Amino acid sequence: MKSHHHQLLFMFLVFFAQKIELLTAETFTGTYGINYGRIADNIPSPDEVATLLRAAKIKNVRIYDADHSVLKAFSGTGLQLVVGLPNGFVKEMSANASHAMAWVKENVQAFLPKTSVCGIAVGNEILGGGDYELWEALLGAVKNIYNAVDKLGLADVVQISTAHSQAVFDNSYPPSSCIFRENVAQFMKPLLEFFSQIGSPFCLNAYPFLAYMSDPENIDINYALFQKTKGIYDMKTDLHYDNMLDAQIDATYAALEDAGFKKMEVIVTETGWASLGDTNEAAATVNNARTFNYNLRKRLAKKKGTPLRPKMVVKAYIFAIFNENLKSGPTSERNFGLFKPDGSISYDIGFHGLSSAESSLLSLKAVQSQGLTKSYILILTISAAALILFLKQ
Ligand SMILES: *[C@@H]1O[C@H](CO)[C@@H](O)[C@H](O)[C@H]1NC(C)=O
Repeated sequence: MKSHHHQLLFMFLVFFAQKIELLTAETFTGTYGINYGRIADNIPSPDEVATLLRAAKIKNVRIYDADHSVLKAFSGTGLQLVVGLPNGFVKEMSANASHAMAWVKENVQAFLPKTSVCGIAVGNEILGGGDYELWEALLGAVKNIYNAVDKLGLADVVQISTAHSQAVFDNSYPPSSCIFRENVAQFMKPLLEFFSQIGSPFCLNAYPFLAYMSDPENIDINYALFQKTKGIYDMKTDLHYDNMLDAQIDATYAALEDAGFKKMEVIVTETGWASLGDTNEAAATVNNARTFNYNLRKRLAKKKGTPLRPKMVVKAYIFAIFNENLKSGPTSERNFGLFKPDGSISYDIGFHGLSSAESSLLSLKAVQSQGLTKSYILILTISAAALILFLKQ
């Protein structure tokens, strides 16, 4: 009888511990995250990637779909994963709420809480892009996905968002003059209205690399690379910028304020620098990629805001973990990777990549048992807390 009680108490505690883990799941830990693009045929398996990310102490990860092999591999790792609803599904999810519910159940709920899916990015860079029907479908898809998540009781755990490219803006120089493009604004405003109701941030894909290449005559490359530079001065706000990424973020804050959303947070969901490009992409060099990524990492480690929003600590997901050899477009598109396919670092920015020796030493088993130890400690802690509560009563 007694042991039966113990068993019940234990089951209760395990359940309780899982709940607590669920409730405390954060969307972003620290300031540094990474995009795990997978359009390649030479990259490590999802299990190896989970090991690599843990060794590099990178906790925040985004993928561009909801691939089940990745969701399974990340189970029990503590990695905070944002999954993507690919653009190809957006119209369908917008048209039919029950399809949105089915997608969320199958690709998110089924993996919680062991896999920490902390967000769903609905589509990528839709507004300002080439498919106008997607612009019209985006808000409906966002709402249907959110409503599904909410009905499943997961709205506090899984944040809904969508990432925007710089194509949604007009006048991004100086930063304070930035506004949303007129044809984008009519779709952007209702979207922002909804995101502000559900507490989601504005997700920005910002590439000083692209901005620099669009105007190398007039932009100092040191400004794009966070190197010593005279920077720019914004007369309207009386603010000085010593790097372009901060200016791009503040341009976004200016556009949000102009649209009536002064309080919304901006998160950088992609930024990076290519290490190889075509002949007309001269800035894509290993040296520049290393400099950008090294300095970006230092910038993020300061846990500071921007000149315009000093209290909004800048958070960014780097693009990307690996070169993606099957991507189309200019050569730079296939050369944004921080790590080589064998898990070693492409260029030194202060991370430990995995040497091949390390990667066999740090077997998945070792990592999994670490994960287990952690949850066991959590259960023990909670047992102790529960015991104290019981004793008090
Ligand atoms: C949504 O999809 C379901 C199942 O595929 C279907 O039965 C239903 O009629 C659809 N609803 C609309 C509004 O299209």
